[in-house]
Amino acid sequence: MSFIGIEDVSLRYGGADGTLAVQDCTLAIERGEFVALVGPSGCGKSTLLKMVSGLELPSAGSVYLDGHEVAGPQHGIGIAFQNATLLPWRTTLDNVLLPLEVSREYRASFRRNRAEHVERARGLLRTVGLDEFREHAPYQLSGGMQQRANLCRALIHEPDLLLLDEPFAALDAFTREELWGVLQQLFMDRRFTVILVTHDLRESVYLADTVHVVSKRPGRIVKSRRIELPRPRTLEMTFEPGFVDIVHELRDAISEIRAS
Ligand SMILES: Nc1ncnc2c1ncn2[C@@H]1O[C@H](COP(=O)(O)OP(=O)(O)OP(=O)(O)O)[C@@H](O)[C@H]1O
Ligand SMILES: [Mg+2]
Repeated sequence: MSFIGIEDVSLRYGGADGTLAVQDCTLAIERGEFVALVGPSGCGKSTLLKMVSGLELPSAGSVYLDGHEVAGPQHGIGIAFQNATLLPWRTTLDNVLLPLEVSREYRASFRRNRAEHVERARGLLRTVGLDEFREHAPYQLSGGMQQRANLCRALIHEPDLLLLDEPFAALDAFTREELWGVLQQLFMDRRFTVILVTHDLRESVYLADTVHVVSKRPGRIVKSRRIELPRPRTLEMTFEPGFVDIVHELRDAISEIRAS
């Protein structure tokens, strides 16, 4: 059985006359795999992430996570969205530690072993180049630095699964490309499983083992493309013919969907 199994899943928001966001969607993700979901706006990508995390439950079909059916919000998952949503009155370090303080699962251990957890947070901040800024407040950080801190916060409880919903969309192109490298490094060091939703096809090919293309709403997977390029991948590689061909292939698939 796969680490994540999305099996014939449909989800309709708002009762019988509501929006059918996802229909008969099936997708298997292996442990340690980096998966990207791409597809037209409004096709149900975020809805798929919400169902994996248990924030929404399918109207039909099932989602399995590590052998169990997802029946409610899951705790061992790291989540990061487009906006960094750091708390403005907390330092960077205290923002990263926040999930340990507030969640019932980790609170007791956090109080007992605070020093150990602070060390872990600083280890993450070091990996993303932010340790020197740990005592700074979010408003003293650039957007890219805030999103780095946001990634650290999503990983502080050492989740097996990281869900990323357009985490770099609000950043300028240079900062975004820099953070691809940061995320790749975290992934190579820690080998969690990732589902990344993105509109940036170069980003999907740079980062993922498999890119899944989602149809127009109601969403289902219409194409799955393995990316066999060796890691670490570099920005130079994104301009090489083999890489560019894959991006074009994905772009064509999405154009076809939009035209259909
Ligand atoms: N909580 C909700 N209640 C009602 N409808 C919703 C809700 N969340 C999403 N929808 C609808 O479900 C459909 C799929 O939304 P979803 O957010 O999953 O799309 P998406 O692929 O993530 O889009 P985007 O690329 O623009 O982020 C959309 O038509 C949206 O309006
Ligand atoms: Mg979305």
